[in-house]
Amino acid sequence: MNMKHKNGTYLIDDVPIQDIAKKYGTPCFVYSESSIISNFQEISNIFCNEKRSVYYSVKANSSLTILKLLSNLGAGFDIVSIGELNRVIKVGADPKKIVYSGVGKSESDIESSIQLGIKCLNVESFAELERINKVASKLKIKAPVAIRVNPNIDPGSHEYISTGLESTKFGINLKNMMEAFIYANKEEYINLIGVDYHIGSQIETLEPFIEAVVSVSKIIKELENNKIHIDFIDMGGGLGIDYSNNKVPSMRQFGEAINKALIDNSLENYNLILELGRSIVGNAGYLITKVEYIKNDSEKNYVIVDAGMDNLIRPALYNAWHNIISTNKNSTEEILCDVVGPVCECADFLGKDRKLVVEQGDLLIITSCGAYASSMSSNYNSRPRPSEVIIRKNKPILITKKEKLEDLYSREIII
Ligand code: LLP
Repeated sequence: MNMKHKNGTYLIDDVPIQDIAKKYGTPCFVYSESSIISNFQEISNIFCNEKRSVYYSVKANSSLTILKLLSNLGAGFDIVSIGELNRVIKVGADPKKIVYSGVGKSESDIESSIQLGIKCLNVESFAELERINKVASKLKIKAPVAIRVNPNIDPGSHEYISTGLESTKFGINLKNMMEAFIYANKEEYINLIGVDYHIGSQIETLEPFIEAVVSVSKIIKELENNKIHIDFIDMGGGLGIDYSNNKVPSMRQFGEAINKALIDNSLENYNLILELGRSIVGNAGYLITKVEYIKNDSEKNYVIVDAGMDNLIRPALYNAWHNIISTNKNSTEEILCDVVGPVCECADFLGKDRKLVVEQGDLLIITSCGAYASSMSSNYNSRPRPSEVIIRKNKPILITKKEKLEDLYSREIII
């Protein structure tokens, strides 16, 4: 655990929250570098060998410092846009360790990624495959591709992040996938090298992961029957984290279950990739916010803080739960309250019906904000995005400056 409570003070990697808030202001994202390193190393130690790699899913947190850290630790990258590609190249990632997923790649996205020589494009539709063929033929470069299949597995997570169900836009369904594999296998400018799947995110049990391995082993047999040989399997990501005493498999249990499933299904000799995001950075991050007001003259008690849905949209979007910890040292009276931001939307809440000992001016710590928090933030209500700080060897270091007011309209032209 990277956060401690000692003599009435909360510390992240031994740095008092108060000191961080004083120096960098609030709201502020804080990350524990040591936690990111230990999460990545834990899964690497269990899963990786000369044929197996862990790729970091950039969308979870695309801060350049975090990308550089993971690249230095040996991670590859799973990207979904040219913007993400640009970020990982900026930190010196090896193009041969980049896979490109996403359902909407434009011609120019395809062209630049092929020219850069990335490991492969994870293809999500037949139409995309035809477009890749067209672009690659024009460039006269063979495009490396993996077909993303949709195995129709219920990961048991929120419907917005259950990508492995056939009812979603992701991947090619089992009925149509063979047509795509056959096309990719015969075209001169397509180099069919892999099969890919990603069944969802915040998956809290091991069964869906195992079901997916069983499904891909059947797909590979079917491919072999059609004399199609692939080189690697990209198994996606999705391991959930503990947001609030929800039971999730540990990284170790996950890695060991995957290893066993691979052996049980005779896939252990394939080249393999895991694409993990949340489980590497999620519990390494915090959002620190200050209480501006306590409003107790309406039906409910509202604790109004300086962070909002523009900084952390997960509660509004998925009804997600993040623990909220008060650092109050003076009061003893607990109140039942909604913790809300300053944004003009009823959906602007960070937590509902929380019991907190809290007073105006207190700092609150919102936990599990390392993944899908800063990377999903916006400037809604013309609010500047906050500073981000990483704790390296017990010292806070600024890695993202707070946006300035003039940054908010730097792209605009007044006519
Ligand atoms: N690979 C692909 C193709 C993905 O689409 C994703 C996540 C991952 C890997 C990484 O999944 P992870 O290990 O982080 O679960 N905004 C949502 C999560 C969206 C996940 C999208 N895809 C949230 O805040 O819960």
